[in-house]
Amino acid sequence: MTKNIAVIRGDGIGPEIVEQALKVLNKVAEIYGHTFNYTDVDMGGCAIDKWGNPLPEEMLKKCVESDSVLLGAVGGEKWNSVPGDMRPEKGLLRLRAGMGVYSNNRPAKIWKQLADASPLKKEIVDKGIDFIIVRELIGGIYFGEHKTDEENGEKKAVDVLAYTESEIERIGRIGFETARKRNKRLCSVEKSNVLDSSRLWKAVMHRLAEEYPDVELSDMLVDNCAMQIVKNPAQFDVIVTENMFGDILSDEASMITGSIGMIPSSSLGASSCGLYEPIHGSAPDIAGMDIANPIGTILSAAMMLRYSFDMPEEADAIENAVSAVLDDGFRTADIMSDGCKKVGCCEMGKLIISKLERK
Ligand code: IPM
Ligand code: MG
Repeated sequence: MTKNIAVIRGDGIGPEIVEQALKVLNKVAEIYGHTFNYTDVDMGGCAIDKWGNPLPEEMLKKCVESDSVLLGAVGGEKWNSVPGDMRPEKGLLRLRAGMGVYSNNRPAKIWKQLADASPLKKEIVDKGIDFIIVRELIGGIYFGEHKTDEENGEKKAVDVLAYTESEIERIGRIGFETARKRNKRLCSVEKSNVLDSSRLWKAVMHRLAEEYPDVELSDMLVDNCAMQIVKNPAQFDVIVTENMFGDILSDEASMITGSIGMIPSSSLGASSCGLYEPIHGSAPDIAGMDIANPIGTILSAAMMLRYSFDMPEEADAIENAVSAVLDDGFRTADIMSDGCKKVGCCEMGKLIISKLERK
């Protein structure tokens, strides 16, 4: 198969982790006889420096016209003082909205080899951590009105959190469908004791539940969910939640699995053209030092093969290669533990490639 992939290296550690993921994709192409064409896209701080805009229109166009997009990370100290709608992160939000990818899928799964890297007690980890956060990605407070003005002689800032029924329904369906393919338990997370948008969220989820009688729906307030994720993560199968709650809970969930550096994500909308990115940031403090963990990005590339290109065997091959390298005791700094062998970003990529083979 021939696939055109838009590649956004981005800022900070972005270029080095994406480089490793591309090498892995090239090896997969060679083994399975595919052709992957790459188109470079500037987004984030590097695009601000080059074009004065975190995502110029023609860059968005390249993404929308591709078969899928692979992204490293954007942002950094350097651009912290630019105006809000010109920040690197704004490029990412415009990309998500422009591609229409409303459903962000973030797995929280403990790798057995990394159980020691989890900050949770062994007895909690041993009960198993394997759930998915389905995060609404192009609505809610991220996309409501943002403004700061003066009122009664002081500054006042406003961010609007709004959801329509149809926006909730389309992400709710993804939650139910995802649960249906797994252990059939869906937990809808909101703050319905305080927010109108959450009360609507909850009502829509319950209406949808009638269409999915095989899926067990439960409700949880977001503050309680934050607590339950560290107290008893084994209770979760699929969590569905709005944009900002999903942002916060997915960072928490990643940490209990050992390292945020391991977690990939997929974002999909109505078409098969998806956006694939690790959930961690650009980590400018370690950029260019060859110590970043490329696994989150490599696993994002695997998700691209699985969900957008319908190449499950190739995706399995990448995931198995990662597992085999961890079995051999190789670790990047963020997941290092006693008795293991510490390697850098490039070396980790090379090791994973060396384990790739056709079944
Ligand atoms: C994420 C990130 C982004 C978000 C930032 C960089 C805008 O934290 O993908 O989780 O908040 O969505
Ligand atoms: Mg985040």
